[in-house]
Amino acid sequence: MSDAARTFDKQLSDKVRCRPLDADDSLAHITYLLHRAYKQHAERGIKALAAFQPEEVTRKRISGGECYVALYMGKIVGTILFKNAQQTAAAGVGGSITIPFFQRGDVASFSQLAVEPEYQGHGIGSRLIAIAERRAAETGAKELGLSTPEPATWLVEMYQRYGYRIVDKVHWNETNYVSAIMSKAITPAIVVNGQHHPAEGARHTPA
Ligand SMILES: CC(C)(COP(=O)(O)OP(=O)(O)OC[C@H]1O[C@@H](n2cnc3c(N)ncnc32)[C@H](O)[C@@H]1OP(=O)(O)O)[C@@H](O)C(=O)NCCC(=O)NCCS
Repeated sequence: MSDAARTFDKQLSDKVRCRPLDADDSLAHITYLLHRAYKQHAERGIKALAAFQPEEVTRKRISGGECYVALYMGKIVGTILFKNAQQTAAAGVGGSITIPFFQRGDVASFSQLAVEPEYQGHGIGSRLIAIAERRAAETGAKELGLSTPEPATWLVEMYQRYGYRIVDKVHWNETNYVSAIMSKAITPAIVVNGQHHPAEGARHTPA
């Protein structure tokens, strides 16, 4: 990366703030953000639910967990949906098939991870993943799982670099590809001065 690109990268990530979804945030905007982000997969024939889901589906999926957003200059440019272990066991990660791993009762999960295409590659996605890892630790989960398209090999490799391993494979009814179910062991959160801190050894900087 050139010096100019590195400076832009730092300036951009310094200006990104992450927070829980607000009642005032537009679910239409988040839905279209998902569509725009997942288009790269659709163009390669990977028909992920998030690439075309209507706003009602976004609302329904969000109601089953905790949604977080990343903002740049006040505009939502990224999102992730975290489910604690109970929510994950109750609903899986968004599909209609039962995955035994997600039903263990100690496995939290995340889904609907997306960053606006023009803002990708600046560390926003990894900050959102860090939030899910922190929430997994804070809610006492032993594992943090996810489902990702197996044909999107760079995604599988990215999660592997972040410490996730493949624990199962599934073909969700809503999709046209096999998904890798991946998971990472979560170290318990430490409480310092009454505040929860992320698990030791977490690779990501908490947002
Ligand atoms: C996946 C996604 C959220 C990552 O967001 P991001 O802000 O670009 O991620 P970051 O900048 O934090 O980079 C995360 C890692 O992915 C890698 N990466 C990002 N885009 C990549 C690409 N197109 N090809 C290969 N690697 C890529 C980065 O190099 C980085 O790896 P590193 O930390 O080991 O260096 C974003 O690409 C996206 O919205 N994709 C479409 C939706 C999607 O696939 N969601 C996940 C479904 S499981």
